[in-house]
Amino acid sequence: MQLDEIVPWGRTLEEYREMFALSDADLDLRLLGCGDGPASANAELTARGGRMVSVDPLYQVPAGAIRDRIRATADTVLSQTEANRDQYVWTTIPDIAGLALLRLGAMGLFLNDYGVGRAAGRYIVGRLPDLPFGDDSFDLALCSHLLFLYSAYLGFEAHLAAVRAMLRVAPEARIFPLLDLDNNVSGHLEPLRRALEGEGHYSEVVPVEYEFQKGANQMLRLRRKEG
Ligand SMILES: C[S@@+](CC[C@H](N)C(=O)[O-])C[C@H]1O[C@@H](n2cnc3c(N)ncnc32)[C@H](O)[C@@H]1O
Repeated sequence: MQLDEIVPWGRTLEEYREMFALSDADLDLRLLGCGDGPASANAELTARGGRMVSVDPLYQVPAGAIRDRIRATADTVLSQTEANRDQYVWTTIPDIAGLALLRLGAMGLFLNDYGVGRAAGRYIVGRLPDLPFGDDSFDLALCSHLLFLYSAYLGFEAHLAAVRAMLRVAPEARIFPLLDLDNNVSGHLEPLRRALEGEGHYSEVVPVEYEFQKGANQMLRLRRKEG
């Protein structure tokens, strides 16, 4: 993996709660975060006694290299967001300075936890759809800001294989957002739902409280077919 190709950007546990409509009971489940990168959800949930494993190709590299990469790319990401500010909802996050505080704070929490978490098996090197876990290792698999968002790079078959993998290791999966980088509903969403429903799985588009990318206020909730 070339770290140069990845722009590390991470969200908080509160954002995960809102994006995935996680209840207090959900937070007691065995959670898997697919493509968590430098999000702080795992660190924060572990600190409050939860059980979360994150899987991402980023975890091949040591903390220092991730920290350097964050330093090298954060200003560019923030200025790109500023240049496209009309594509975002500035309420919970009031402005670019607030966004910088939130993201750099989250990634700082992740970096502080990364060494301990890697040793404890909470940050696992892996890449959808090849999840290095046995069937039903988790209760709920999450995927934030990877599937659907990067529809231009990940085709329909990659989405289908990824979701089948999530539903192999957990009976339920949730994906957010449903929009791609151009703020359009991903063209993979409905074909994916049809394919999964054809295999007997249950799918539902659920409105959520979270909205930063304009119009990105729904998640896909999937349940594996019974039996
Ligand atoms: C935009 S970041 C999102 C990070 C985090 N989920 C969040 O919402 O804050 C996307 C992450 O997906 C990871 N990624 C890319 N391809 C992946 C794959 N096939 N399987 C798992 N993670 C992948 C990247 O390394 C990166 O950390």
